[in-house]
Amino acid sequence: MSIVVKNGRVIDPASETSAKLDVLIEGDRIGRIAENLQGEETIDATGCVVCPGFVDIHVHFREPGFESKENIATGSRAAAHGGFTSVVTMPNTNPPIDNGGMVELHNRSARETACIKVWPAAAATKGREGAEMTEMADLKSAGAVAITDDGSDIPSSWVMRRVLEYANMVGLTYLSHAEDHTLMEDGAMNEGFNSTRLGLPGMPKAMEEIAIDRVIRLAELAGARVHICHVSSEGGVDIVRRAKGRGLPVTCETAPHYWTLTDDAIERFGPNAKMNPPLREFGDVQAIKAGLADGTIDCIATDHAPHTVTEKNVEFQLAPFGIIGLETSLALGIMGLVKQGVVTLERLVDLMTRRPARILGLPAGELREGGPADIAVFDPAAEWTVEPDAFASKGRNTPFAGMHLRGLVKTTICDGVIVYQA
Ligand code: DOR
Ligand code: ZN
Ligand code: ZN
Repeated sequence: MSIVVKNGRVIDPASETSAKLDVLIEGDRIGRIAENLQGEETIDATGCVVCPGFVDIHVHFREPGFESKENIATGSRAAAHGGFTSVVTMPNTNPPIDNGGMVELHNRSARETACIKVWPAAAATKGREGAEMTEMADLKSAGAVAITDDGSDIPSSWVMRRVLEYANMVGLTYLSHAEDHTLMEDGAMNEGFNSTRLGLPGMPKAMEEIAIDRVIRLAELAGARVHICHVSSEGGVDIVRRAKGRGLPVTCETAPHYWTLTDDAIERFGPNAKMNPPLREFGDVQAIKAGLADGTIDCIATDHAPHTVTEKNVEFQLAPFGIIGLETSLALGIMGLVKQGVVTLERLVDLMTRRPARILGLPAGELREGGPADIAVFDPAAEWTVEPDAFASKGRNTPFAGMHLRGLVKTTICDGVIVYQA
């Protein structure tokens, strides 16, 4: 069975392609990328971009234990809706994914219920308690693609150093949720003018800056690579930029909400604008954009963190941290980055495909003849309004409800199968 995606603009950063071409899919592979191709079935991509399926190396699918928030089936459909064909799930499930058996359980569920590729990151410490290291060689042979205690940081520098050493030894990258909890335990939002005005306990940016600086120094000591999750602050971007300037193997990601919103949004959207790290201030938004423009920030990840309406519909301070992101990520990139001249459309695609795939060595993120037919087709000009009830995710916790956006995913293809069609 062959499908040809016709008349679109093919953007493939890996081969430096940005041209009007057709893509022929044969079975689960890309057969050819050229002009005037024919296939048994045709997808008309006139006016659309045809690119590698997006890759998100930071999502929470909540399986096992929190399936009322999301599961691998619904999370994967939300991903397909957003143009993603590969995602990496965080291990802060219940129980946490901290041993080989749990990794296998995750992968079995992914094989049986997911419509796209769902790769697991496994915990760095047993029970995510920050004390005893997990068996990283077992985790790797069971199929884990990264190591992280995401949701919280590892308080002990001694433990973190060992985690970095062992993760590096088995060839897995440590994903750092960089947050110094000891500086502020019960913060609910960024510490600053707005937290004072609203009378909410603040989380100073120093919580992130200190933790990023610490993990980079420990990675240097351990001779290990490190990837910093969800950088949100100007200081955080600066520390990563300086580390890269010293030639250290450090990479980092940011999420769409950090270049789209400031903590002003909390007054309007309440708990749906509550996440960790928190929304910051204007200068931080500018610094995130500068970091994306100059390459300090290596990739875009959503930190898709679904929670139920009941859990979120409480006083701000009591609500759980996290917002969903898979179904709005592309459009927020087009609106906040491409339309504002921060990055080109080609570079936005790069930040959402090849770059994240390369950080974890995933076989994804490029269009190659003979390679997997993982493809996103999107109309960069199409306008739409965010309606959370239309999401495939179980989560409705987004501050972008009602927002008018541009950039709409039309078709998502994973291993040659159409997994989403608008
Ligand atoms: O906003 C967040 N949500 N930050 C985290 O660190 C955890 C995540 C979650 O699991 O909900
Ligand atoms: Zn995190
Ligand atoms: Zn996370």
